[in-house]
Amino acid sequence: MNIFSAKFFSIIGIVFCFVVIALGAWTRLEDAGLGCPDWPLCYGEWIFPQTPEAIEAANNRFPDNPVDIAKVIPEVVHRFFAASLGLFAIALLAITIREKKMKAEASILLIVTICQGIFGALTVTLKLHPLIVSTHLFGAMIVASLFLLIYLKSSEIYTNNQGKLLKRTSYESLVKNRNYIFFGFILLILQIFLGVWTSTNYASWSCLEFPTCHSGEFLPTTKFSEGFDLFQPIGPNYLYGEMSGEARTAIHLTHRIGAIFICFYSLFLSVKIWSEKTKPIVIFFLSALFLQVLLGISNIMTLVAVWNGVAHNLIAVTLFLTFIVMIYLSSRRGNESS
Ligand code: HEM
Repeated sequence: MNIFSAKFFSIIGIVFCFVVIALGAWTRLEDAGLGCPDWPLCYGEWIFPQTPEAIEAANNRFPDNPVDIAKVIPEVVHRFFAASLGLFAIALLAITIREKKMKAEASILLIVTICQGIFGALTVTLKLHPLIVSTHLFGAMIVASLFLLIYLKSSEIYTNNQGKLLKRTSYESLVKNRNYIFFGFILLILQIFLGVWTSTNYASWSCLEFPTCHSGEFLPTTKFSEGFDLFQPIGPNYLYGEMSGEARTAIHLTHRIGAIFICFYSLFLSVKIWSEKTKPIVIFFLSALFLQVLLGISNIMTLVAVWNGVAHNLIAVTLFLTFIVMIYLSSRRGNESS
Protein backbone atom coordinates (compact mmCIF):
# COMPACT_ATOMS: atom_id res chain seq x y z
CA MET A 1 0.00 0.00 0.00
CA ASN A 2 1.27 3.49 -0.89
CA ILE A 3 2.12 5.16 2.43
CA PHE A 4 1.25 8.62 1.06
CA SER A 5 -2.31 7.56 0.19
CA ALA A 6 -5.57 8.59 1.85
CA LYS A 7 -6.18 4.95 2.73
CA PHE A 8 -2.91 4.58 4.65
CA PHE A 9 -3.25 7.93 6.44
CA SER A 10 -6.83 7.20 7.45
CA ILE A 11 -5.76 3.87 9.04
CA ILE A 12 -3.05 5.68 11.01
CA GLY A 13 -5.61 8.34 11.93
CA ILE A 14 -8.03 5.74 13.35
CA VAL A 15 -5.26 4.12 15.43
CA PHE A 16 -4.19 7.56 16.64
CA CYS A 17 -7.77 8.41 17.64
CA PHE A 18 -7.89 5.33 19.87
CA VAL A 19 -4.57 6.38 21.45
CA VAL A 20 -5.73 9.98 22.01
CA ILE A 21 -9.10 8.84 23.44
CA ALA A 22 -7.31 6.39 25.78
CA LEU A 23 -4.97 9.19 26.91
CA GLY A 24 -7.97 11.48 27.47
CA ALA A 25 -9.66 8.83 29.62
CA TRP A 26 -6.41 8.26 31.53
CA THR A 27 -6.16 12.02 32.17
CA ARG A 28 -9.75 12.12 33.46
CA LEU A 29 -9.39 9.01 35.59
CA GLU A 30 -6.19 10.35 37.18
CA ASP A 31 -8.19 13.54 37.99
CA ALA A 32 -5.57 15.35 35.92
CA GLY A 33 -7.86 17.39 33.66
CA LEU A 34 -6.54 20.55 35.31
CA GLY A 35 -2.97 19.20 35.47
CA CYS A 36 -2.07 22.30 33.43
CA PRO A 37 -4.25 25.27 34.50
CA ASP A 38 -3.58 27.22 31.26
CA TRP A 39 -3.84 26.45 27.53
CA PRO A 40 -2.07 25.94 25.11
CA LEU A 41 0.94 26.40 27.38
CA CYS A 42 1.37 24.47 30.62
CA TYR A 43 2.13 26.82 33.54
CA GLY A 44 3.38 29.23 30.87
CA GLU A 45 5.85 26.69 29.38
CA TRP A 46 5.70 24.85 26.04
CA ILE A 47 6.29 21.46 27.72
CA PHE A 48 5.93 21.89 31.51
CA PRO A 49 8.04 23.44 34.29
CA GLN A 50 10.83 21.03 35.11
CA THR A 51 13.56 22.79 37.11
CA PRO A 52 12.96 23.71 40.79
CA GLU A 53 13.14 27.44 39.82
CA ALA A 54 10.56 27.00 37.05
CA ILE A 55 8.27 25.05 39.39
CA GLU A 56 8.54 27.75 42.04
CA ALA A 57 7.74 30.46 39.48
CA ALA A 58 4.74 28.40 38.26
CA ASN A 59 3.47 27.95 41.83
CA ASN A 60 3.71 31.72 42.42
CA ARG A 61 1.80 32.38 39.22
CA PHE A 62 -0.95 29.79 39.91
CA PRO A 63 -1.20 29.67 43.74
CA ASP A 64 -4.60 27.87 43.59
CA ASN A 65 -3.19 25.16 41.35
CA PRO A 66 0.37 24.25 42.40
CA VAL A 67 2.41 21.98 40.10
CA ASP A 68 1.68 18.27 40.66
CA ILE A 69 3.89 16.34 38.22
CA ALA A 70 1.74 13.18 38.52
CA LYS A 71 -1.15 15.22 37.08
CA VAL A 72 0.87 17.36 34.67
CA ILE A 73 2.23 14.34 32.76
CA PRO A 74 -1.10 12.73 31.64
CA GLU A 75 -2.44 16.16 30.59
CA VAL A 76 0.69 17.11 28.61
CA VAL A 77 1.00 13.68 26.91
CA HIS A 78 -2.69 13.91 25.93
CA ARG A 79 -2.17 17.41 24.50
CA PHE A 80 0.87 16.38 22.42
CA PHE A 81 -0.85 13.33 20.94
CA ALA A 82 -3.99 15.37 20.22
CA ALA A 83 -1.85 17.99 18.44
CA SER A 84 -0.24 15.23 16.32
CA LEU A 85 -3.72 14.07 15.35
CA GLY A 86 -4.35 17.61 14.08
CA LEU A 87 -1.21 17.32 11.91
CA PHE A 88 -2.51 14.01 10.52
CA ALA A 89 -5.79 15.69 9.60
CA ILE A 90 -3.87 18.44 7.74
CA ALA A 91 -1.72 15.87 5.91
CA LEU A 92 -4.79 13.84 4.96
CA LEU A 93 -6.47 16.93 3.49
CA ALA A 94 -3.32 17.63 1.43
CA ILE A 95 -3.35 14.03 0.14
CA THR A 96 -7.05 14.13 -0.79
CA ILE A 97 -6.45 17.39 -2.70
CA ARG A 98 -3.62 15.68 -4.58
CA GLU A 99 -5.68 12.54 -5.23
CA LYS A 100 -8.73 14.69 -6.18
CA LYS A 101 -10.96 12.44 -4.03
CA MET A 102 -12.81 12.95 -0.71
CA LYS A 103 -11.71 16.56 -0.31
CA ALA A 104 -15.05 17.43 1.34
CA GLU A 105 -14.73 14.64 3.94
CA ALA A 106 -11.12 15.57 4.73
CA SER A 107 -12.05 19.28 5.05
CA ILE A 108 -14.85 18.44 7.50
CA LEU A 109 -12.40 16.24 9.41
CA LEU A 110 -9.95 19.12 9.74
CA ILE A 111 -12.70 21.53 10.88
CA VAL A 112 -13.98 19.06 13.52
CA THR A 113 -10.39 18.44 14.70
CA ILE A 114 -9.88 22.21 15.12
CA CYS A 115 -13.17 22.39 17.08
CA GLN A 116 -11.83 19.58 19.25
CA GLY A 117 -8.81 21.75 20.04
CA ILE A 118 -11.17 24.60 21.02
CA PHE A 119 -13.20 22.26 23.25
CA GLY A 120 -9.94 20.99 24.77
CA ALA A 121 -9.11 24.59 25.67
CA LEU A 122 -12.62 25.18 27.07
CA THR A 123 -12.30 22.02 29.18
CA VAL A 124 -9.42 23.72 30.99
CA THR A 125 -10.69 27.31 31.06
CA LEU A 126 -14.22 26.31 32.18
CA LYS A 127 -12.73 24.01 34.82
CA LEU A 128 -14.03 20.65 33.60
CA HIS A 129 -17.63 21.77 33.03
CA PRO A 130 -19.42 18.40 32.53
CA LEU A 131 -21.20 19.46 29.32
CA ILE A 132 -17.93 20.65 27.76
CA VAL A 133 -16.02 17.50 28.74
CA SER A 134 -18.87 15.33 27.39
CA THR A 135 -18.99 17.25 24.09
CA HIS A 136 -15.20 16.92 23.83
CA LEU A 137 -15.47 13.12 24.04
CA PHE A 138 -18.24 13.01 21.41
CA GLY A 139 -16.10 15.25 19.19
CA ALA A 140 -13.33 12.64 19.44
CA MET A 141 -15.78 9.95 18.30
CA ILE A 142 -16.78 12.10 15.32
CA VAL A 143 -13.11 12.60 14.37
CA ALA A 144 -12.55 8.81 14.54
CA SER A 145 -15.71 8.25 12.45
CA LEU A 146 -14.51 10.66 9.74
CA PHE A 147 -11.14 8.91 9.49
CA LEU A 148 -13.06 5.62 9.24
CA LEU A 149 -15.39 6.98 6.56
CA ILE A 150 -12.40 8.11 4.47
CA TYR A 151 -10.85 4.66 4.93
CA LEU A 152 -14.05 2.91 3.86
CA LYS A 153 -14.49 5.10 0.80
CA SER A 154 -10.86 4.76 -0.25
CA SER A 155 -11.17 0.97 0.06
CA GLU A 156 -13.70 0.77 -2.76
CA ILE A 157 -12.12 -0.73 -5.85
CA TYR A 158 -11.86 1.69 -8.78
CA THR A 159 -10.44 1.27 -12.30
CA ASN A 160 -7.29 3.25 -12.92
CA ASN A 161 -8.23 5.44 -15.86
CA GLN A 162 -11.87 6.51 -15.63
CA GLY A 163 -12.36 6.33 -11.89
CA LYS A 164 -15.24 3.88 -12.36
CA LEU A 165 -16.21 1.71 -9.42
CA LEU A 166 -15.33 -1.88 -10.33
CA LYS A 167 -16.58 -4.01 -7.50
CA ARG A 168 -18.90 -3.40 -4.63
CA THR A 169 -20.47 -6.06 -2.46
CA SER A 170 -24.08 -5.64 -1.44
CA TYR A 171 -25.24 -6.14 2.15
CA GLU A 172 -28.95 -6.63 1.55
CA SER A 173 -29.86 -7.37 5.19
CA LEU A 174 -28.27 -4.04 6.22
CA VAL A 175 -29.90 -2.10 3.38
CA LYS A 176 -33.33 -3.53 4.31
CA ASN A 177 -32.97 -2.74 8.01
CA ARG A 178 -31.42 0.69 7.71
CA ASN A 179 -33.96 2.37 10.01
CA TYR A 180 -33.45 -0.24 12.72
CA ILE A 181 -29.68 0.35 12.49
CA PHE A 182 -30.19 4.12 12.81
CA PHE A 183 -32.40 3.66 15.84
CA GLY A 184 -29.76 1.40 17.45
CA PHE A 185 -27.14 4.07 16.77
CA ILE A 186 -29.26 6.71 18.52
CA LEU A 187 -29.68 4.38 21.53
CA LEU A 188 -25.91 3.84 21.62
CA ILE A 189 -25.27 7.61 21.49
CA LEU A 190 -27.66 8.09 24.44
CA GLN A 191 -25.99 5.28 26.39
CA ILE A 192 -22.53 6.72 25.71
CA PHE A 193 -23.80 10.13 26.82
CA LEU A 194 -25.09 8.57 30.07
CA GLY A 195 -21.68 6.93 30.62
CA VAL A 196 -19.78 10.15 29.97
CA TRP A 197 -22.24 12.02 32.21
CA THR A 198 -21.57 9.44 34.97
CA SER A 199 -17.86 9.97 34.56
CA THR A 200 -17.81 13.78 34.26
CA ASN A 201 -20.08 14.23 37.29
CA TYR A 202 -18.07 11.72 39.34
CA ALA A 203 -21.16 9.54 39.82
CA SER A 204 -19.33 6.19 39.63
CA TRP A 205 -19.02 5.92 43.39
CA SER A 206 -22.73 6.60 44.02
CA CYS A 207 -23.57 2.92 43.46
CA LEU A 208 -20.81 0.77 44.85
CA GLU A 209 -22.76 -2.50 44.76
CA PHE A 210 -23.87 -4.72 41.92
CA PRO A 211 -26.62 -5.57 40.99
CA THR A 212 -28.00 -3.43 43.82
CA CYS A 213 -26.90 0.21 44.04
CA HIS A 214 -26.11 0.82 47.70
CA SER A 215 -27.30 -0.30 51.15
CA GLY A 216 -28.73 -3.41 49.43
CA GLU A 217 -31.26 -1.29 47.53
CA PHE A 218 -31.95 -1.39 43.80
CA LEU A 219 -33.59 2.04 43.78
CA PRO A 220 -32.25 4.29 46.55
CA THR A 221 -33.26 7.96 46.81
CA THR A 222 -32.59 9.80 43.56
CA LYS A 223 -32.86 13.36 42.26
CA PHE A 224 -33.26 13.23 38.48
CA SER A 225 -33.96 16.94 37.93
CA GLU A 226 -30.59 17.87 39.41
CA GLY A 227 -28.75 14.92 37.89
CA PHE A 228 -29.83 15.82 34.36
CA ASP A 229 -29.43 19.58 34.61
CA LEU A 230 -27.11 19.82 31.61
CA PHE A 231 -26.42 23.53 31.94
CA GLN A 232 -24.77 23.79 35.31
CA PRO A 233 -23.36 27.24 36.12
CA ILE A 234 -20.04 28.30 34.66
CA GLY A 235 -17.44 29.23 37.24
CA PRO A 236 -17.10 26.47 39.84
CA ASN A 237 -14.27 23.97 39.59
CA TYR A 238 -15.97 20.70 38.54
CA LEU A 239 -13.06 18.46 39.52
CA TYR A 240 -14.68 15.75 41.71
CA GLY A 241 -18.16 17.03 40.77
CA GLU A 242 -20.59 19.50 42.29
CA MET A 243 -23.87 17.51 42.44
CA SER A 244 -25.60 16.06 45.47
CA GLY A 245 -25.33 12.32 46.20
CA GLU A 246 -28.99 11.74 45.15
CA ALA A 247 -28.39 13.45 41.80
CA ARG A 248 -25.31 11.32 41.14
CA THR A 249 -27.24 8.15 42.06
CA ALA A 250 -29.89 9.12 39.48
CA ILE A 251 -27.23 9.45 36.77
CA HIS A 252 -25.48 6.20 37.66
CA LEU A 253 -28.73 4.20 37.79
CA THR A 254 -29.91 5.59 34.44
CA HIS A 255 -26.64 4.46 32.84
CA ARG A 256 -27.19 0.93 34.21
CA ILE A 257 -30.81 0.84 33.01
CA GLY A 258 -29.72 2.18 29.61
CA ALA A 259 -27.33 -0.78 29.31
CA ILE A 260 -30.23 -3.22 29.75
CA PHE A 261 -32.19 -1.47 26.97
CA ILE A 262 -29.27 -1.41 24.56
CA CYS A 263 -28.51 -5.09 25.16
CA PHE A 264 -32.07 -6.18 24.36
CA TYR A 265 -32.27 -3.90 21.32
CA SER A 266 -28.88 -5.13 20.05
CA LEU A 267 -30.04 -8.76 20.22
CA PHE A 268 -33.17 -7.85 18.26
CA LEU A 269 -31.10 -5.89 15.70
CA SER A 270 -28.61 -8.75 15.35
CA VAL A 271 -31.38 -11.20 14.51
CA LYS A 272 -32.80 -8.73 11.96
CA ILE A 273 -29.52 -8.10 10.13
CA TRP A 274 -28.07 -11.61 10.41
CA SER A 275 -26.98 -13.09 7.05
CA GLU A 276 -24.03 -15.01 5.64
CA LYS A 277 -22.34 -11.72 4.63
CA THR A 278 -23.03 -9.81 7.84
CA LYS A 279 -22.11 -12.70 10.17
CA PRO A 280 -18.60 -11.35 10.99
CA ILE A 281 -19.97 -7.84 11.72
CA VAL A 282 -22.77 -9.14 13.96
CA ILE A 283 -20.46 -11.50 15.90
CA PHE A 284 -17.91 -8.70 16.36
CA PHE A 285 -20.62 -6.27 17.50
CA LEU A 286 -22.19 -8.65 20.05
CA SER A 287 -18.77 -9.67 21.41
CA ALA A 288 -17.80 -6.00 21.89
CA LEU A 289 -21.12 -5.31 23.61
CA PHE A 290 -20.70 -8.32 25.92
CA LEU A 291 -17.18 -7.17 26.82
CA GLN A 292 -18.51 -3.64 27.43
CA VAL A 293 -21.09 -4.92 29.93
CA LEU A 294 -18.40 -6.96 31.73
CA LEU A 295 -16.13 -3.90 31.88
CA GLY A 296 -19.04 -1.79 33.15
CA ILE A 297 -19.68 -4.23 35.99
CA SER A 298 -15.97 -4.50 36.81
CA ASN A 299 -15.84 -0.67 36.81
CA ILE A 300 -17.99 -0.97 39.93
CA MET A 301 -16.08 -3.92 41.43
CA THR A 302 -12.68 -2.21 40.94
CA LEU A 303 -13.93 1.28 41.95
CA VAL A 304 -13.07 2.35 38.38
CA ALA A 305 -9.49 1.13 38.13
CA VAL A 306 -7.70 3.25 35.52
CA TRP A 307 -7.15 0.31 33.09
CA ASN A 308 -10.81 -0.62 33.48
CA GLY A 309 -12.12 2.90 32.83
CA VAL A 310 -9.85 3.33 29.81
CA ALA A 311 -10.93 -0.05 28.36
CA HIS A 312 -14.65 0.76 28.94
CA ASN A 313 -14.09 3.99 27.00
CA LEU A 314 -12.27 2.30 24.10
CA ILE A 315 -14.94 -0.37 23.67
CA ALA A 316 -17.57 2.40 23.61
CA VAL A 317 -15.65 3.96 20.69
CA THR A 318 -15.41 0.53 19.02
CA LEU A 319 -19.20 0.10 19.27
CA PHE A 320 -19.71 3.62 17.86
CA LEU A 321 -17.43 2.84 14.88
CA THR A 322 -19.16 -0.51 14.30
CA PHE A 323 -22.41 1.39 13.82
CA ILE A 324 -20.65 3.76 11.40
CA VAL A 325 -19.59 0.71 9.34
CA MET A 326 -23.12 -0.73 9.42
CA ILE A 327 -24.68 2.59 8.41
CA TYR A 328 -22.12 3.02 5.62
CA LEU A 329 -22.72 -0.46 4.23
CA SER A 330 -26.49 -0.06 4.54
CA SER A 331 -26.38 3.07 2.39
CA ARG A 332 -24.80 1.43 -0.66
CA ARG A 333 -26.23 -0.84 -3.29
CA GLY A 334 -23.99 -3.58 -4.66
CA ASN A 335 -22.71 -3.64 -8.26
CA GLU A 336 -20.70 -6.84 -8.37
CA SER A 337 -21.70 -7.36 -12.00
CA SER A 338 -20.40 -4.05 -13.43
C1 HEM B 1 -23.78 -1.56 27.44
C2 HEM B 1 -23.22 -0.56 26.97
C3 HEM B 1 -22.40 0.47 27.70
C4 HEM B 1 -21.83 1.53 27.08
C5 HEM B 1 -21.87 1.84 25.60
C6 HEM B 1 -21.15 2.29 28.10
C7 HEM B 1 -20.44 3.45 27.86
C8 HEM B 1 -19.78 4.19 28.80
C9 HEM B 1 -18.97 5.36 28.52
C10 HEM B 1 -18.69 5.94 27.15
C11 HEM B 1 -18.51 5.83 29.71
C12 HEM B 1 -17.64 7.06 29.91
C13 HEM B 1 -16.23 6.66 30.12
C14 HEM B 1 -15.35 7.86 30.34
O1 HEM B 1 -15.79 8.98 30.21
O2 HEM B 1 -14.18 7.65 30.62
C15 HEM B 1 -19.03 4.97 30.74
C16 HEM B 1 -18.77 5.14 32.07
C17 HEM B 1 -19.20 4.27 33.05
N1 HEM B 1 -19.93 3.11 32.87
FE1 HEM B 1 -20.64 2.40 31.12
N2 HEM B 1 -21.34 1.69 29.33
C18 HEM B 1 -22.09 0.56 29.15
C19 HEM B 1 -22.48 -0.33 30.13
C20 HEM B 1 -22.22 -0.20 31.47
C21 HEM B 1 -22.67 -1.11 32.51
C22 HEM B 1 -23.50 -2.37 32.28
C23 HEM B 1 -22.21 -0.61 33.69
C24 HEM B 1 -22.40 -1.15 35.08
C25 HEM B 1 -23.32 -1.99 35.46
C26 HEM B 1 -21.45 0.59 33.42
C27 HEM B 1 -20.81 1.37 34.37
C28 HEM B 1 -20.13 2.53 34.11
C29 HEM B 1 -19.50 3.38 35.13
C30 HEM B 1 -19.46 3.12 36.61
C31 HEM B 1 -18.91 4.47 34.44
C32 HEM B 1 -18.13 5.63 35.04
C33 HEM B 1 -16.66 5.39 34.93
C34 HEM B 1 -15.85 6.65 35.31
O3 HEM B 1 -16.09 7.23 36.36
O4 HEM B 1 -14.98 7.03 34.53
N3 HEM B 1 -21.48 0.81 32.05
N4 HEM B 1 -19.81 3.98 30.16
